[in-house]
Amino acid sequence: MKTIKPVKLTRETPIDELKGLKTKTKIFVKRDDLNGLLISGNKARKLEYLIADAKKNKCDTIVTCGAVQSNHCRTAAVFAKHFGFECHLFLRVHGSPRKVYSGNLLIDELLGANVKYLTPTQYERRTEVMERYAQKLRKKGKTPYVIPEGGSNEIGALGYLDCMKEMAEIIKQQQIDAVYCAVGSGGTYSGLLLGKKLLDLRIALNGVIVCDTVEHFRERIYGICVRAISRFKFPKEISPNDIYLIDGYVGKGYGIPYPEELKTIRHIAKLGIILDPVYTGKAFHGMLNEIKKHKHKNVIFVHTGGIFSIFAYQREITKAILRQ
Ligand SMILES: Cc1ncc(COP(=O)(O)O)c(C=O)c1O
Repeated sequence: MKTIKPVKLTRETPIDELKGLKTKTKIFVKRDDLNGLLISGNKARKLEYLIADAKKNKCDTIVTCGAVQSNHCRTAAVFAKHFGFECHLFLRVHGSPRKVYSGNLLIDELLGANVKYLTPTQYERRTEVMERYAQKLRKKGKTPYVIPEGGSNEIGALGYLDCMKEMAEIIKQQQIDAVYCAVGSGGTYSGLLLGKKLLDLRIALNGVIVCDTVEHFRERIYGICVRAISRFKFPKEISPNDIYLIDGYVGKGYGIPYPEELKTIRHIAKLGIILDPVYTGKAFHGMLNEIKKHKHKNVIFVHTGGIFSIFAYQREITKAILRQ
């Protein structure tokens, strides 16, 4: 069982009990939102492995993609700067690109990433677009490393296998019965599931989807896990039935917040934790409903970050503040 030695840019993150919520369930929060400033959130754990692989392959340029407020692309831009890679980002944008940069995009641009915009239709063919672009870079003498959306492949997932290892002790000590996380491209959940399997942890691992469908993610996560098991020779098998995904909290679609979610964001912020409207807000809101149904005693919510996107949702969040 030999994986990849990651580059290191993150700090170990605390697991704090969230006090002040009137729930029967004790909620702990794995604070991956605190793993660094500009690299805050789940993408850093994945990029520590992906950048290590890029270095191993002697690449000098990162090519990746995401939504216009992609946390992954912002984190990739920071890693690229830190480790001396050129950075090219393909960002999906509805309508014409904003004239004033905000949130994650402001950071991408400040860091000097080479940003290109794709329409939603063009974005559907992102893998092809990036591969063609990488070919052009190769002709110019560059050695590109193409990272899929969200850094979600068998290499990126290793970062969340590490996260599960970091949680294993408290899972046993506190008799945690469930771990919750947001699912946006599936890499985080895949890594956590591999960790659960390898460490034989008896927990329900619940992924709250924030876009697409449960079927779409089951297939994607299963694929990532199978490739990881085969490539890194993990002594475990995986079945699609091991994947537990929760629907019902997407709202009208990816990146569209809704009033109940915004109310939860406001409520949790009063306890000192900022959730984002795209991922963790929906996932946390979903978890609060689900723990009532399942009567979990002790749970961990993996806070996967996303702080910068709140600045791209000023209008919606301001309304939620004024409503209370
Ligand atoms: C803040 C945040 N949380 C959760 C997720 C979901 O993680 P994954 O893409 O690994 O499913 C993402 C990215 O998609 C994210 O940016």
